[in-house]
Amino acid sequence: MAIRKPHVGGNWKMNLHGNEAAALAQAVVDAVGGSDAVDVTICPAFPYLSQVAQIAAGSHVKVGAQDAYHEANGAFTGEVSLSMLQDIGVEVLLTGHSERRHVIGETDVLVNAKTRAALDAGLDVILCVGEKEEQRDAGQTDAVNAAQTYYGLAGVSADQMARVTIAYEPVWAIGTGKTATPADAQNAHAAIRKVLSEMYDNNIAQATRLQYGGSVKPANAAELFGQTDIDGGLIGGAALKADDFLAIVDAAVGTPAGA
Ligand code: PGA
Repeated sequence: MAIRKPHVGGNWKMNLHGNEAAALAQAVVDAVGGSDAVDVTICPAFPYLSQVAQIAAGSHVKVGAQDAYHEANGAFTGEVSLSMLQDIGVEVLLTGHSERRHVIGETDVLVNAKTRAALDAGLDVILCVGEKEEQRDAGQTDAVNAAQTYYGLAGVSADQMARVTIAYEPVWAIGTGKTATPADAQNAHAAIRKVLSEMYDNNIAQATRLQYGGSVKPANAAELFGQTDIDGGLIGGAALKADDFLAIVDAAVGTPAGA
């Protein structure tokens, strides 16, 4: 089985003002900016991307944006283009986060447009998928994840898949303190990997990193990341404190996925 390098993302959402964002970025860069054992991406809010990218410059820590618009330029009031983000050092884009799908109202079509545009522009993408609680209760977890994966990646080439990470984030687990059991999370990840083998081939399915998100904490990270098909995590609340986030990164390093 392929050994996938673990990937841990910190999604700071609409939290942390300038000094707080800078201090947290500096702590992450100081601790893991020289590490080859894990890929770390931090995603501050738009106003602080430039400052955080300067702090991360020259380190292995990548800076991601939580959103962007897929059109190159023009009359799109309030939106931010991919090339603007690249101008200030952003290398990664989150797409399909459940808060953008279910709070802001993004459709699969828009998620796909953003995913393709970001990959075409040369960014890495973390594509988020995940079922709502009622879908889980109705036994639809794998079907929802499969559909969001198929739609999200429609038109993405096999070569571009090297720059895609998929984050499985059950909606009911995000910010709620509820976490999927390691076994349930593993089953969902394995099912998503099977979708990738159908869309592409087994090599790409085995090489693509799948990360779990939803109330990951230092206390549960190692067991989740120890599952065969879980290659790291996308962290929200626990990414806002350096000690917690770095403990989670350590847990990912300690459990190389697919090993
Ligand atoms: P959480 O958020 O860790 O606070 O549950 C995860 C996410 O939304 O990516």
